[in-house]
Amino acid sequence: MNTDMNPPLTIVILAAGLGTRMKSRQAKVLHRAGGKALVEHVVDTAAKLTNPERIFVVVGHQAGEVRAAVTTPGVRFIEQPEQRGTGHAVTCGRAVLEGLSGYLTVLYGDGPLLRTETLRRLYEQETSDAAAAVLLTAMMDDPTGYGRVMRDAHGRVARIVEQKAATPEELAIREANMGIYCFRADLFWKHAGEMRPDNPAREYYLTDMAEILHRAGYPIEAMQIEDPREALGINTRVELADVDRLLRERKLRDLMLAGVTIEKPETVTVDSDVEIGIDTVVEAFAQIRGRTVIGENCRIGAGAIIEDSELGDDVVVWPYTIIGTSRLERGATAGPFARLRTDNHVAEGAQIGNFVELKKTRMGAGAKANHLAYLGDSQIGAKVNIGAGTITCNYDGFHKHPTAIGDGAFVGSNSTLVAPIEIGAGAYVGAGSVITQPVPPDSLGLGRAHQVIKEDWAKKRRTIGKQ
Ligand code: UD1
Ligand code: CA
Repeated sequence: MNTDMNPPLTIVILAAGLGTRMKSRQAKVLHRAGGKALVEHVVDTAAKLTNPERIFVVVGHQAGEVRAAVTTPGVRFIEQPEQRGTGHAVTCGRAVLEGLSGYLTVLYGDGPLLRTETLRRLYEQETSDAAAAVLLTAMMDDPTGYGRVMRDAHGRVARIVEQKAATPEELAIREANMGIYCFRADLFWKHAGEMRPDNPAREYYLTDMAEILHRAGYPIEAMQIEDPREALGINTRVELADVDRLLRERKLRDLMLAGVTIEKPETVTVDSDVEIGIDTVVEAFAQIRGRTVIGENCRIGAGAIIEDSELGDDVVVWPYTIIGTSRLERGATAGPFARLRTDNHVAEGAQIGNFVELKKTRMGAGAKANHLAYLGDSQIGAKVNIGAGTITCNYDGFHKHPTAIGDGAFVGSNSTLVAPIEIGAGAYVGAGSVITQPVPPDSLGLGRAHQVIKEDWAKKRRTIGKQ
């Protein structure tokens, strides 16, 4: 993070609009792509360039939710009570922003693909010469929806014309305004009052600042980017899906270049903040979400879904396993078809097998539950064996109760452990038991009816049946 930009840089992110074209009850910048709210991406990008104290997010629609979506500490907010245009949005912060000297970058909260490197280049171009502003532009094959960059007879930027206000000749111009600007702060505030809502939308257009500063005699520059997709501003859900795909491709590419094998990457979903160690293999259709951290040399099976979890090195998650907020230590295995619902801790080398569900459970080192079990609110010791069909009855209809199983205990198949219950270290539970009393260490707990044998019973029955 670079927090000592010199001269200082203030970044204002506009995020107050509803985004009518999204056709949503939710503010546009709250929609998610690459596993994060759009506004969060932009704030993260800005925070890599300047001190968060100098980052301001303009909020309006669902201001509370937008504030909550910004998790970077130190970022400040400006209220825009009524959305009267992008120019109005910036001037709503006049009281606090005007006193901040140096440079002012404005960007839009609906453009999450923007890279820090590009913002830095924009700042460097602006600070390297006398321009009052540099704007990011791109030559687009189809600039529909974007403002067009008008140049004067000398080829200098003279003004920006919005799509809605443009003449057919102006619409034919392919150089589009990406909506990312770096201004000299003193000149911006000196002239900001000159923006007027004299356009069909009756809005204050930030883009008018180009013409205003040009007319006042200051040079305005354009910095063209090669790939306009980087500045793609999301207006519709079609663009949301495009951006989501691009963010995910970018993430997968970064992971692959950093040593992670990804099979059929076009089917794999990895959120932006996920970390994965080298030599881990991610199979087709896996989804790795949220703040998940995965160690080295792991295998994430086909169709597995892992969220907000921590996996040590050499962990194997077999196909179609679902893991949420859990921690699996080195060499642990889970699945196929296992569900680690929430707050589980699977210690080194422990095995969670097929059709096993864990909730708020700790499995000790080397413990095994290889088939068909439900283990909830349980503390299970090292090297415990849980037989197939074992169920912890942790819920009595009112409260949840704990189960504790000591190191080395062996729970036979199809046992029903009625919590609260304790099974001592080294104890055995006979298969098919319903256990309601504690089983002391090293003893056998049996809770099932005695088997009865009636010799020749079946034979006699067959004889009676024939008569
Ligand atoms: C804007 C630019 C256009 C550019 C395009 C790039 C203007 C007038 N036009 O158009 O030249 O090509 O972006 O993507 O700036 N917002 C507020 N308050 C408001 C209005 C908007 O905070 O009163 C926020 C929105 O939440 C959004 C951003 O500003 O995040 C951009 O607004 P949007 O309506 O999407 O602008 P465009 O029409 O795309
Ligand atoms: Ca937009």
